[in-house]
Amino acid sequence: MATGIAIRAVGVIGAGQMGMGIALTTAAKAALPVKIFDNSAIQIDRGLKLVDSLLAKDVNKGKISEDESKATKARISIISSMDDLEGCDLVVEVRNHWCWVTPCKSISPRLQAAAENLQVKQSIFSSLSEICPPSTILATNTSSISITKIAASAAKPEMVVGLHFFNPVPVMKLVELIAGLQTSSDTLARARVFAEACGKDVTQSADVPGFVSNALLMPFLNEAIMCLEKGIATRDDIDKTLRLGMAHPMGPLQLADFIGLDTCLAIQQTLHRETGDDKYRPSVLLGRMVAAGWLGRKTGKGFYDY
Ligand code: CAA
Repeated sequence: MATGIAIRAVGVIGAGQMGMGIALTTAAKAALPVKIFDNSAIQIDRGLKLVDSLLAKDVNKGKISEDESKATKARISIISSMDDLEGCDLVVEVRNHWCWVTPCKSISPRLQAAAENLQVKQSIFSSLSEICPPSTILATNTSSISITKIAASAAKPEMVVGLHFFNPVPVMKLVELIAGLQTSSDTLARARVFAEACGKDVTQSADVPGFVSNALLMPFLNEAIMCLEKGIATRDDIDKTLRLGMAHPMGPLQLADFIGLDTCLAIQQTLHRETGDDKYRPSVLLGRMVAAGWLGRKTGKGFYDY
């Protein structure tokens, strides 16, 4: 049972699709105020448009009233400095941009949203330790980086936890809760209460590479890409096999595009590096597609054209 202070305000670092999805779900389902920080004005603009369109869709479908939509939107605020997260009882870090530390104007924007990076996350968690009170839960939405390693950079590693949401956050029913070696049972219990208040079912995983979700999903996606690479079947037949034969909502190649091929590659590299197990070795084709800047939906080209 959670004994720490209740969660009354939430911070989100990162205004991409995942960050905005978490912010919207927090504001709409848990009815908590959310502050969002992102150092990219373009990303914030896109994120706010996404929230507006999702709320408008729910109003049009009669799922929520106009007043509920306005109340949800009013709970969401954009902050211009991470220092403004000081009043939050829980902060979720959802940061994928490697240009966080060194903005690279010379690099094409389509290549700028890329692999998660441990050093970037550690610098964020070290800053959060100075900004937030010691009772604040510091959560990361990382899909494969070790919670224990991220926690090592925080002043109170026992307050650090993995809260792994799935894309699209408003739709997917699961949150995977991950305890680092240092995570306290109270932090885990409070994080679980928060995820449940967001309307999610919670599973718990140990801090192993990829946790449960990606340790299972990534070899499956990689196997599908290797099927294509080896000419075993066409793209459409591979996806159709899983959609029609196994009732998956998306085929694996479509899902890889949806997640982002750079994200898939980064997770697979982490799994391969950390376990040393060849079953996680990313396919050559996946590496080549990322090198070409074909990252899936977000760049308009992956296994499919968008
Ligand atoms: N954000 C919010 N809501 C979205 C959305 C988005 N990006 N995309 C679709 N939706 C909503 C739609 O608005 C719609 O909501 P309503 O029912 O209220 O109208 C609902 O989802 C269904 O959408 P559609 O009818 O347009 O399309 P669909 O039926 O084909 O469903 C889908 C779309 C939900 C994405 C479905 O294809 C699906 O479940 N795909 C698999 C997604 C998945 O596996 N996600 C996990 C990826 S792994 C991950 O995230 C973690 C990691 O670490 C890699």
